[in-house]
Amino acid sequence: MSNHLKYNYIIELSNVDTIYEGEKIPAIRDVNLKIKKGEFLCVIGPNGAGKTTLLETINGLLKHTRGKVNIFGKEIRKFGSSIRKEVGYVPQGFSVSSLMPFLVKDVILMGRFGKIGLFKSASDEDYLKAKEAVKLVEIDGLLKKPIGKLSGGQLQKVMVARALAKDPKILLLDEPFSSLDFKASAEISERISFLHEKKNLTTLMVIHNIPSIPKRCKRIVLINEGMVIQDGPVNEVLNSGSLKFAYKVRK
Ligand SMILES: Nc1ncnc2c1ncn2[C@@H]1O[C@H](COP(=O)(O)OP(=O)(O)OP(=O)(O)O)[C@@H](O)[C@H]1O
Ligand SMILES: [Mg+2]
Repeated sequence: MSNHLKYNYIIELSNVDTIYEGEKIPAIRDVNLKIKKGEFLCVIGPNGAGKTTLLETINGLLKHTRGKVNIFGKEIRKFGSSIRKEVGYVPQGFSVSSLMPFLVKDVILMGRFGKIGLFKSASDEDYLKAKEAVKLVEIDGLLKKPIGKLSGGQLQKVMVARALAKDPKILLLDEPFSSLDFKASAEISERISFLHEKKNLTTLMVIHNIPSIPKRCKRIVLINEGMVIQDGPVNEVLNSGSLKFAYKVRK
C-alpha cells in the first residue's frame, strides 16, 4: 500500500490537537513530531500527560481535532481503519474477562485479521507470521490456554506477539513492561531491539522506568500536560531541567 509512496517522514504530526468527546480541553495540543523510518523513540511524561492519547492519535483509534497527521506521507484520515493493518499496537495495561472464550493462539492469529480480511481463512503466511511472533516472544507454552486465564505479564507478552504477528511497519508500545518481571522485561526489550535492528522497524515506546530504556532508543519525546516539551537525544532530554519540572522533582 505504502511502498510506492515517497515520504520524508513515516510519521508526521503538525500542530495536532486531540480532544476526547465531551471534553473541552485537548488531551494533546499543538503537537509537532517528525519521525523517520527506522527510528526508535521513547515517549515519557507523568501520568495523564497525553502519552496514550498520542499513540492512539498516530494509529487512528482517536481522531485528531486540529492539525495534520501524516503516516507514510499520506493523511491518516484517508486510510480509514486500514492504517491499523500497518501499525502494531500494544495497548497499556488492559485486562480481559476470565470468561473470554478465545485461546491464546487464536488471539495471536487475530493480530493478522486486518490483513486476512474478516471472512477469509488464515493462509500459510498468516500461520507463519503468527508462529514467528510466538517464537520471538517465547510463549509457545501458552498457546492452548484461554486468554482470560493468563497472568498480567503473560497477557502482556501475548499482546506483544499479537502486534508482531501483523508484521507491522510501525510498532507502538504503551508501557509494555509494566507487568513483566525484570527477566521478562529484559528479554522482551531485547526482542524488540532485535526486530528494530533486523527489520528497521519504526518503534515508539511509552516507558516510565527510565533505566529500562532500550539502548537502541536514540531519541526521547517528553510530554507534559498534553504538550511536547522536549524532543531530542536520550541524554540531552534526561539531563534537562524540563524532565525534573515535568515530574515535579524538587531537588
Ligand atoms: N476516554 C477519555 N475521555 C476523556 N478524557 C480522557 C480519556 N482518556 C484520557 N483522558 C484524559 O486525557 C489526558 C491524557 O490522558 P492519557 O491517557 O493520554 O495520559 P497518559 O500520559 O497515557 O497517562 P498514564 O501515564 O497515566 O498512562 C488525561 O487528562 C486524561 O484524564
Ligand atoms: Mg497512558
